[in-house]
Amino acid sequence: MFVFKKIVALQKYLNNSDSPQSIGFIPTMGALHKGHLSLIEKAKEQNNIIVVSIFVNPTQFDNQEDLVKYPRTEENDLKLLESIGCDVVFTPSSEEIYGTNLASTSFNFDGLEHQMEGKFRDGHFDGVGTIVQRLFEIVKPTNAYFGEKDFQQLQIIKKMVEKNNIPVNIVGCEIYREEDGLAMSSRNTRLTQEYRQAAPFIYKTLKKAKKKFKNKSAKKVVKWVKKKFKKHPLLKLEYFEIADEKTLQSIKKKEKGNAYRGFIAVFAGEIRLIDNIAL
Ligand code: PAF
Repeated sequence: MFVFKKIVALQKYLNNSDSPQSIGFIPTMGALHKGHLSLIEKAKEQNNIIVVSIFVNPTQFDNQEDLVKYPRTEENDLKLLESIGCDVVFTPSSEEIYGTNLASTSFNFDGLEHQMEGKFRDGHFDGVGTIVQRLFEIVKPTNAYFGEKDFQQLQIIKKMVEKNNIPVNIVGCEIYREEDGLAMSSRNTRLTQEYRQAAPFIYKTLKKAKKKFKNKSAKKVVKWVKKKFKKHPLLKLEYFEIADEKTLQSIKKKEKGNAYRGFIAVFAGEIRLIDNIAL
């Protein structure tokens, strides 16, 4: 496994092959868990070279404390990546990516960016768009893999690729969960024992909401979820919305032929957790 910090060295390595390569790319912010590893396993089936980037991207954090406290476990990440047969890891510095201008570009994602996470995390998706576009320019992947836990991010990246004709295939991968249902996330390691024990309530409630959505209106299901969280002694609901998978607009009425998802953001103490479920 090769680890590169510099763009020039990474590109030299990637361009140095005579045979045509299919590059599978998994951008990450490190603190790798089984969810990331499942993306890598999928990429290995579909590509002959696997590139993983580890970069905690400052421009996508609306909350400075979250950025400072974001788990950084590079040594362990590299061991994990080596053990599952990753070929190349890119671990750039902030200067390598942004130079002296640590700022994000402003994007128009046709309104996808104004829903849900966009309402609560100012500038977040401009930061994500900026880093992912930059990484695509650098790595020039054939396929790039993103988890559905960040479903809005996945749709936004698909939109960015489509609008800018970026030659990469975006592959969405199912949410990987702990045995008790909690969606895997690097932030889970920051949960205290008390909040960690409470957190599976999120997915349990999503599953019940899915059942209810079969014969109840979206409005009623949303109301029910809100009530459930109001009664919970520890978890604080930030939002629960039922939205169209394509437009991410929250719906008033179900229409035949459309696919819907329930999207949720919850505070477990200081830690903000998100999840979603296909309805
Ligand atoms: O999902 C993430 O970990 C990040 O948003 C990403 C895609 C690596 C961009 O920094």
